[in-house]
Amino acid sequence: MCGIVGYIGNNDSKEILLKGLEKLEYRGYDSAGIAVINSNGVHIFKEKGRIADLRNAVDHSVKANAGIGHTRWATHGPPSKGNAHPHQGSAARLTLVHNGVIENYDRLKREYLPNVELNSETDTEIIVQLMELFVNEGLNTEEAFRKTLTLLHGSYALALIDEQNVDTILVAKNKSPLLVGLGDGFNVVASDAMAMIQVTNQYVELMDEEMVIVTKNEVTIKNLAGAVVSREPYTAELDAGDIEKGTYPHYMLKEIDEQPLVIRKIIQSYQDGEGALEMDSDIVATMQEADRIYIIAAGTSYHAGLVGKQFIEKLTKIPVEVHISSEFGYNMPLLSEKPLFIFISQSGETADSRQVLVQVKEMGYKALTITNVSGSTLSREADYTLLLHAGPEIAVASTKAYTAQLAVLAILAEVTARGIGHEVDFDLVQELGIVASAMETLCDDKEEFESIAHEYLTVTRNAFFIGRGIDFYVGLEGALKLKEISYIQAEGFAGGELKHGTIALIEEGTPVIALATQEFVNLSIRGNVKEVAARGANPCIISMSGLETDEDRFVLPEVNSLLTPLISVIPMQLISYYAALHRNCDVDKPRNLAKSVTVE
Ligand code: F6R
Repeated sequence: MCGIVGYIGNNDSKEILLKGLEKLEYRGYDSAGIAVINSNGVHIFKEKGRIADLRNAVDHSVKANAGIGHTRWATHGPPSKGNAHPHQGSAARLTLVHNGVIENYDRLKREYLPNVELNSETDTEIIVQLMELFVNEGLNTEEAFRKTLTLLHGSYALALIDEQNVDTILVAKNKSPLLVGLGDGFNVVASDAMAMIQVTNQYVELMDEEMVIVTKNEVTIKNLAGAVVSREPYTAELDAGDIEKGTYPHYMLKEIDEQPLVIRKIIQSYQDGEGALEMDSDIVATMQEADRIYIIAAGTSYHAGLVGKQFIEKLTKIPVEVHISSEFGYNMPLLSEKPLFIFISQSGETADSRQVLVQVKEMGYKALTITNVSGSTLSREADYTLLLHAGPEIAVASTKAYTAQLAVLAILAEVTARGIGHEVDFDLVQELGIVASAMETLCDDKEEFESIAHEYLTVTRNAFFIGRGIDFYVGLEGALKLKEISYIQAEGFAGGELKHGTIALIEEGTPVIALATQEFVNLSIRGNVKEVAARGANPCIISMSGLETDEDRFVLPEVNSLLTPLISVIPMQLISYYAALHRNCDVDKPRNLAKSVTVE
């Protein structure tokens, strides 16, 4: 949800900023801009559209050793060149980029800037206008920067340059991610280490309500009272190769193919010396002490939570509730006496989930975050973290993070169950190994899924996914994948629920993708398929080996029945991918979306 970068050093900053923004494009891609500063002043280039459009708009003859940049996902004001960052104060002395949302911008405008004519519809412009106001009133830039921060309510990651000081970038953070990267004779700023991993792997993490004075040789962290804070840098464990597409046409396809490898990596990461699964004993003890577990998540991670509930309840017998994070705050159920909150989030930055985390921590409850990003906000603020080990997920549509979430939830359930003394009647290491091999088989069968996509989804305007039990949950995920990247109206339904209303939407040829991986509901889901077929639907049954019939379109390799979501989702991902491709959609960067949703 918007990405920011900054560079100050001895090299020309433009290319470093543009490359950094390309890596952050997953955070937002409706407009972008950079501002570079040299002895001739500040030079701003902005464009509506992608970083490629910005690149074309930049005057490459301008040379400057410092600059800031931004890629936008619009919140206040529609995507346009005028609303694209950077923004300036009226005197054009200060120039700012911002990721986040300022909740009190309207009040600040009325109170401090009643006569200032704004150039954009953004909340960001208010911040830089305020800073300039305080500079005009006699504060130095750092003081004006800090004073403004104390007035802001909301989230921000900011980077500011001052036309009268070419040697410094000021940055600050509150509730939006921001890192400072350390180099030899240069320093950088980025929303995410991925943006600058090409130039450094040494980073300093910032805490909320901290600011940093960044010069090419020095990084000084201060709190909002102006006191210096010391913090050790850490090495970002990111392989530059992980964030390249390589020979793949899209990140999404690469990430789908990475799934078997990710499952094997997860098994290894959670094994002890003897090969048994293990997890931090404090986490296991906290799980065992809980009388109810509340899983909080959004989107695909919420769908993973629904499957995770089955894993945890079946193996540990601890009751689990799964809640959509954006609803939980004001729709909180009556909590049990000893609740444990599990936050599932690929990015670890989702604002809807974070606001629940803040709320439950204030209530004094324990929280565990399951995330792909160590050091992310949700990871830092929870009591415990379990990592997904999936490597960077760059395509906006989540694929490998979902299966990684399922694998980690299964391991958490198994380890907890064993600790409590419940018998687990299968060897999870072995079963996950079988899952990884089955995933490989499916990924090798891409032509089949491409032809299913062509056969069922070429001309349709809608599609339904049905299943019972855990197949229903995978259907929800299948529908989300299809709609978000192909823009086909798609819905997931519990097979038995369709006849209570939605079946009215079935028309001649409506595709209905039915999952039949569970023996105990096999006949029932096939009954639902007959009901929709009798009304003209075009059913596509995907079943599990051993349960198949002649009418099935695809048969999945057999895996442990509890773990089927890890493999039945792969056809959903690949069918959606090819449907989107066929419709000439931008697979990796679907319209209106951003990878990391850091606004509530
Ligand atoms: C869909 C997708 C989103 C995310 C959701 C939560 O493909 O990626 O639905 O799952 O925005 O994001 P995280 O998991 O980062 O909290």
